[in-house]
Amino acid sequence: MAIRKIVENVYSVGVMHWDRRLFDQLIPLPEGTSYNAYLIKGGTKTALIDTVDPLLKEELFENLKKAGVTKIDYVISNHAEQDHSGSLPFVLHAHPEARLVTNEKNRGMLKDLMPSIDDARFMVIKEGDTLDLGGKTLEFVMVPWVHWPETQATFLKEDGILFSCDFFGAHAAVADIFDTSHFYVPAKRYYAEIMSPFRNNVRNNMAKVEKLPIKIIAPSHGYIHLDPKPIMDAYREWAGDDVKNEAVIAYVSMHDSTKKMAEYLREALIERGVNVHFFNLPVSDIGGIAMCMVDAATLVVGAPTLLAGVHPVAANVAYIANALRPKTRFVSLISSFGWVEKAGEAVKGMLTNFKAELLAPVIAKGYPKEADFKELDRLADDIAAKHKAIGVLK
Ligand code: FEO
Repeated sequence: MAIRKIVENVYSVGVMHWDRRLFDQLIPLPEGTSYNAYLIKGGTKTALIDTVDPLLKEELFENLKKAGVTKIDYVISNHAEQDHSGSLPFVLHAHPEARLVTNEKNRGMLKDLMPSIDDARFMVIKEGDTLDLGGKTLEFVMVPWVHWPETQATFLKEDGILFSCDFFGAHAAVADIFDTSHFYVPAKRYYAEIMSPFRNNVRNNMAKVEKLPIKIIAPSHGYIHLDPKPIMDAYREWAGDDVKNEAVIAYVSMHDSTKKMAEYLREALIERGVNVHFFNLPVSDIGGIAMCMVDAATLVVGAPTLLAGVHPVAANVAYIANALRPKTRFVSLISSFGWVEKAGEAVKGMLTNFKAELLAPVIAKGYPKEADFKELDRLADDIAAKHKAIGVLK
C-alpha cells in the first residue's frame, strides 16, 4: 500500500489486505480489510500509532522505509487485538530505541498476548496524559469497550486528528483511503458485527470524543474521514434507540415447508407496508443479517425441528443474533415439524439477551395448510400493528 500524507508530517503507513475474506474465522469480509497505522513526525520525536496484522508486517516495514523512518521514539498501542498489535514485537525488535506507549489495561493484555515484549519497553499513560513530539502533541483518550475493555484513542491536538482505533472503522480495502463516498455500508456492517453488542459504551464514548475539536477521524480499519460529521452522524443513528419499519426474516428449510411459510409471511408483510429483509440462511452472509438487525424493528426466525431440536443453521443465527444484542423490538418464530415440535422453545431459550416482545409463533405440522396461512396472516397483522404502535409504520 502506498503511504499517504494526511497533513504535514502525519502519514498513513498501514496496509490493505485485499483478499482477506474472513475475520475471527467467522466474520465475512466481502471487501477485504485494512490495518491502518499512522506515522507522526514531530520536531523532536517520531511516533508510530498501532501496527498491522503480522501476516503483512513486511509491508509495514517497507512503508516505514518509504517514509524515511530511521528512528521511532514511541510506538502507541491503542488496542491489544492482534490485527493491530501483532507486529509490535517485530517493530520493537527493529527499533530498540522505541518505548511502547499505552494504558495499564492494554499493557496487561499485550503481555498476555505477546509475552516476549520486555516490561522495560512499556511507558504507561492514563486518561488525559499528553506526549510532546515537538509541535505535535498526542493526548490519550480512553474509549473502553469499543470493542475491547482496554481500547484507547489518541488525539493529535495541533491537527485535530482522532486516531480512533476500531471505533468508526470499516472492513474495506480501498485504493483511495480518503474517498469516503461509499463508506456507509462497510462502516455499518463493521458497526453491526463489532460494536453493536456495546451500544451503550458506543454512546458514552461518542459523548466523550464529541467534546474534542476533531477535524479528521483516522480509524484502524478502512477510510480516513476528512469530514468527521457523516461517520459520527451514522454512529449516532446506529447506536440510538430508533428502529425502522423493517422485518428481518431469517430462515432455513429442509423440504420447503418452512420456506413456503417464510415466503408467505414475506409477501403478507410487504402487502401491509412493512419492509422485509429476507435471508435463506444456508446461502446468506451472516454479516448482511447483522447489518439489517442494527435497526430492524422485528426479527422472525424460520427454523424447522431437526433431531428433536432446532435446525443447527437456525441455532447458529439465533446464537449470533443474541450475542449482538440488537435493539429489535419484536421477535417471532415460524416453524414446521414432522412428528414432534421442538424448535420453538429451543429458539426462545437462545434469545436471552433480547428485550424484544415475543409475538405468537406460527408452527405448522408438515407442509403449511389453510389454517397455517391464516396464522401467518395473523402474524403479519400483529407485526404491522406493532410497527404502527411505535410509529415507524404510518
Ligand atoms: Fe481491529 Fe479489535 O481489532
